[in-house]
Amino acid sequence: MKTAVVTGASRGIGRAIALRLAEAGNAVVVHYATRAAAAEAVCAEITAAGGKALAFGADLGDPAAVAGFWPTLEPLMEASFGSKRLDMLVNNAGTGGGLTIEQADPATLDHVLQVNLKAPFFLIQGAITRISDGGRIVNLSSMGVRNPYPVMAAYAPSKAALETLTLMLANQLGPRGITVNAVRPGATATEMNHRATDPVLSKAIAETVALRRVGQPDDIAGIVAFLCSEAGGWVTGQMLDASGGQRL
Ligand SMILES: NC(=O)c1ccc[n+]([C@@H]2O[C@H](COP(=O)([O-])OP(=O)(O)OC[C@H]3O[C@@H](n4cnc5c(N)ncnc54)[C@H](OP(=O)(O)O)[C@@H]3O)[C@@H](O)[C@H]2O)c1
Repeated sequence: MKTAVVTGASRGIGRAIALRLAEAGNAVVVHYATRAAAAEAVCAEITAAGGKALAFGADLGDPAAVAGFWPTLEPLMEASFGSKRLDMLVNNAGTGGGLTIEQADPATLDHVLQVNLKAPFFLIQGAITRISDGGRIVNLSSMGVRNPYPVMAAYAPSKAALETLTLMLANQLGPRGITVNAVRPGATATEMNHRATDPVLSKAIAETVALRRVGQPDDIAGIVAFLCSEAGGWVTGQMLDASGGQRL
């Protein structure tokens, strides 16, 4: 059995990714920041369907927690899955910031960069020696990299840097058969995007989408699951737009 670690899997897109990867037969680490009960509920759903899952909390806004991520998680994986084998890392946890350049202060910028860029950077650094040859790394970026709104002043640059890291790593890890890709959701109905969950505002957003609706977490999860699958093994170094064709 292969093992996947999905950050920010207690809700939203990460939850849907964890469920998809479990459905595909992988043991899944369901990472969360503060919502332990929600992560446990995702694990319960996976185990009820015959899969294996483990909830694991770490605040990726805290550099010390990022440094301790793998050393803390590995014994828990051994206890729950019988092995610390790692095959897939999905860097999904993210924070929006929601500020224009005029509104942003240094602390907010630092926090957004810490969660969206520095945490994936150091989680991947720690994963390089742990992940199996033929493994998969998927980073959640955003359509905001190609169409940044003013309120994405901190968020869009953090995701753009994550994409550059993705491209670099695809080259570096390719000789080991490890693929590294980024997925760019458009407006997706989760807690992060209150406009996409609002019945009125989501209709207005849908008018900007070729497929005429906002995204649902499972729309994104299916693409991530494909990239993590055997069938996705010939795709690397790509930034996949997963927006239903928003603002084409
Ligand atoms: N929704 C969209 O429209 C959209 C569009 C483009 C890109 N994205 C990207 O897709 C990814 C998932 O977004 P989403 O909409 O599913 O978000 P969400 O519903 O807000 O969920 C965020 C997840 O990340 C975790 N998280 C937040 N801050 C964290 C921190 N400091 N440390 C560790 N974990 C933390 C949360 O854990 P807790 O539950 O424990 O708080 C939760 O599991 C993000 O990278 C986001 O930037 C989303």
